[in-house]
Amino acid sequence: MPIPFLYDTLTNGPPAWVPGWARDPWTLFQIVAVAGFLYLLKRYFSGTATAAERKMHGRVVMITGGTSGIGAAVTRNLAERGAQIVLLTHLPPSNPFLADYIGELRQQTKNQMIYAEQVDLASLHSIRKFATKWIDNAPPRRLDMLILCAATVTPPGGQRIETEEGIEEMWMVNYLANFHLLGILSPALRAQPFDRDVRIIIPTCFSYIRSPSLNNALVKKEWTPAKAYARSKLALMVFGQAYQKHLDAYKRPDQLPMNSRVIFVDPGFTRTPGMRRWLTRGSLWGLAIYLCSYLVPWFVLKSPEMGAQSILHAAMDPRLGMGPGGKLIKECSEVDFARMEVKDEEVAKKLWEASDKLIEKTEKEQAALRVLEKKKQELKEKEKKEAEKAEEIDALIDTIKKGKEAEKKTSRRKGKKTSS
Ligand SMILES: NC(=O)c1ccc[n+]([C@@H]2O[C@H](COP(=O)([O-])OP(=O)(O)OC[C@H]3O[C@@H](n4cnc5c(N)ncnc54)[C@H](OP(=O)(O)O)[C@@H]3O)[C@@H](O)[C@H]2O)c1
Repeated sequence: MPIPFLYDTLTNGPPAWVPGWARDPWTLFQIVAVAGFLYLLKRYFSGTATAAERKMHGRVVMITGGTSGIGAAVTRNLAERGAQIVLLTHLPPSNPFLADYIGELRQQTKNQMIYAEQVDLASLHSIRKFATKWIDNAPPRRLDMLILCAATVTPPGGQRIETEEGIEEMWMVNYLANFHLLGILSPALRAQPFDRDVRIIIPTCFSYIRSPSLNNALVKKEWTPAKAYARSKLALMVFGQAYQKHLDAYKRPDQLPMNSRVIFVDPGFTRTPGMRRWLTRGSLWGLAIYLCSYLVPWFVLKSPEMGAQSILHAAMDPRLGMGPGGKLIKECSEVDFARMEVKDEEVAKKLWEASDKLIEKTEKEQAALRVLEKKKQELKEKEKKEAEKAEEIDALIDTIKKGKEAEKKTSRRKGKKTSS
């Protein structure tokens, strides 16, 4: 059908139903040029796909934020390749959404080795509970990769939010949670056999370039969501570099060099729930405008699958499993850091010490609160039991009284009968 049509058009000219503008070769050229330009622009905004391949079968990948956005796309890709996935999510395993999500993922990727562990990254206690359980195993559990995709963002104009433990939410989830998790998991990472190429992948965001300095605290008066988000990402990068040094400094019992590497990744602007929350300012009006003008974010932002490409590159490129760690990957290529602070050891030392102190102080306070709460609970239980006991005794006394009254009545009746 198209061939006879094309032949007919070439020999006899376009059919009568073709409008005038479409008969003009110059107009047609302009349309094709614009369409071609838009196509190339869309390809550019979609970013680079990785060509890296690695056998993932049997490798254990722990991932945070693996239930949505870029993390979900990374999880699906690695699960399809046969990796054993451990999803760290704040949802309990009994949550119907999580059960459905894992069920579907297992079915679609034909991989049954997908599990979830409940870890609320807004809670130091929850992280400690999970991580200590993970390392409390002999021999040490296999761990090939740790991908730290979870993050939270307060939309522009939003209020400063504190976690239940009293720490600013973005600082906690985006930075301190990873500091705490990696700190406790450090023995598990260092204990991996020398021939295991272990990677710790840290997604970051180019906003770290505009972050206020880590040398000065972000006081409440100067706090804005953009500053706090950027600062949490810069802190994560400074810590990541220091963590690589901490791993490298470890003397393995087999005297072989460290085989765990930190790799930073900038995934680029991507259409994810997090990005949507940021663009819509977390409001219904914002969401309505976003949906009405969806063509714009669709055009300029990457799909989650394309946003996942640089992370997959970091996970699979064989060259990144050699040489020193601490590299930054963007569009599937190694790039330089744009802030000197990232590699500043003095800044890293101060940050590490301050983070340790904050964790120690918060954990102590929270432990004391938990003890108090437990005591309150025990007191309540005791009071409840005592009230139940008192009720039981009252009921018993009541029954005895009633029994005695009934006895008295029958003896009175018997007395009357004998006298008559
Ligand atoms: N999207 C972009 O344009 C972009 C650009 C640059 C860098 N990045 C970085 O790429 C990574 C992924 O971004 P994304 O946009 O895909 O994120 P996202 O869609 O907002 O997803 C964030 C994930 O973090 C999890 N999470 C949030 N708070 C948590 C908590 N307290 N405990 C446990 N999990 C928690 C969420 O779980 P629930 O869904 O269960 O809440 C969700 O799975 C982030 O590190 C982000 O900073 C993204």
